[in-house]
Amino acid sequence: MPQKLYIETVGCQMNVLDSELVVGSLRRQGFELTHEAEAADVILFNTCSVRQHAEDKIYSSLGRLRGHKKRHPDKIIGVLGCMAQKDQELIRRRAPHVDIICGTGQLARLPQLIDDAKATGKLQLALSLDRTESRHDVERSFESYDPMRDPSMRPTPFQAFVRVMIGCDKFCTYCIVPSVRGPEQSRHPEHIAREVAQLAGEGCKEITLLGQTVNSYKYDLGDGRRFRLSDLLTRIHDTSGIERIKFITNFPKDMTDDLLEAVRDLPKVCPYLHVPAQSGCNDVLRSMKRLYTVEFYKDMLARSREIVPDVAISSDFIVGFSGETEESFEKTCDLVRESAFKNSFIFKYSPRPGTKGHDLFADDVPEETKKRRNNDLLAIQTAVSLQDHLRFIGRRVEVLVEGLSKFGERTSHSGPRQLTGRTRTDHIAVFDGNPRLIGQTFEVEVTEASPFTLFGTVVSGEQVGLDNLGETWDKQRIALPLLAH
Ligand code: 5AD
Ligand code: SF4
Repeated sequence: MPQKLYIETVGCQMNVLDSELVVGSLRRQGFELTHEAEAADVILFNTCSVRQHAEDKIYSSLGRLRGHKKRHPDKIIGVLGCMAQKDQELIRRRAPHVDIICGTGQLARLPQLIDDAKATGKLQLALSLDRTESRHDVERSFESYDPMRDPSMRPTPFQAFVRVMIGCDKFCTYCIVPSVRGPEQSRHPEHIAREVAQLAGEGCKEITLLGQTVNSYKYDLGDGRRFRLSDLLTRIHDTSGIERIKFITNFPKDMTDDLLEAVRDLPKVCPYLHVPAQSGCNDVLRSMKRLYTVEFYKDMLARSREIVPDVAISSDFIVGFSGETEESFEKTCDLVRESAFKNSFIFKYSPRPGTKGHDLFADDVPEETKKRRNNDLLAIQTAVSLQDHLRFIGRRVEVLVEGLSKFGERTSHSGPRQLTGRTRTDHIAVFDGNPRLIGQTFEVEVTEASPFTLFGTVVSGEQVGLDNLGETWDKQRIALPLLAH
């Protein structure tokens, strides 16, 4: 009987990719995926530390398994990822029934850790060095985890994330990422190109390059030449079968003209940029140590729009950071009103022990105020998003069909169902069509719009991509239980 594996994933796209790779490598060892924790022989949690809320969810899931582990001491419970790297002592104290604690830079060791936990019944620890050690040693202890891909392990076979770098060197004062994901290290461009070619060979049409600050990508080729993200986009652009290339997430300071020109000139690179601003107030940006001013950010937006016609831009904001006054918050509201973002992700500040923000500044904005500012900023962004979406009415957009919409999932008749997909500018589009369209690229004429969705009809006979997957996506689909942050 094959061993059963359950995995729960919290957090960003990097975690989604890590989980996909972990599942792929354990499947090659003979594991079979299950969606019920209690039916599994190995239960894994791939964790996030960016906000307290994400950690609380994991501790409560672990708490629920305490009795289960007592009744079945042979089952293995593992905590992977950012929380594992950050809090081994706390995990051991709060969840002593955990068998494996494995950090983000050590995932390659997981199959061995599972075997050792089974054989010894003892806690297995695999953690990278903390950033007080020498840069060289810390870098070596954080290994980019890029084993063989497994097409059946992706939520959709025609889309894939590809890691181009790990870690972050920016040390924004609110952010735990530089300590839990280690120093910024870019992968060799040829390794990335090989992975993209393999994915294309498996039927992948859309690639999203991942990095915490993806536009800081740089790889020294050793002969004095330095490969930037623009060079990497050029290098992978002509991979046959790939129709779309996206990249997330960008750091405003590193949004250089060569990159914007690559987005403009390379037809497969989508005109979509996620460039988090975090705040619209210079005092707050300074205490966040974001390294730019609001004026710089606005110039960067203007430059992006000038170089890349019709580019869609989205952002992240944190409300209630230490020292954020009503006046500072108003400045953030002004930035959102003026910036025509496609959408923004808005978060309440969550102090993270181990960051400068936590250790040096007071968390002085009351929770009620954070909530109100979150709601107010969201309302402003929603109005801006509606204006952005309304522009599309009457226009034709190219949509890669991703699956059934939530409504489409609730219907079961044969014939047209409600489908959903994304445009090249990352707008969500919903329309009726045959589920056989899933995985293909079509022109959709937009007839209506809401702040989050374009509604339209498929322009018949005008399929953009002509590849046929053969099998429908539905059959191959697996559902990693994902909780996006
Ligand atoms: N509290 C709240 N939000 C945070 N983010 C990062 N750290 C924190 C924190 N301590 C947000 C930032 C980042 C996004 C991924 O999460 O907006 O861009
Ligand atoms: Fe965190 Fe700042 Fe690095 Fe983004 S750039 S991962 S917010 S430290």
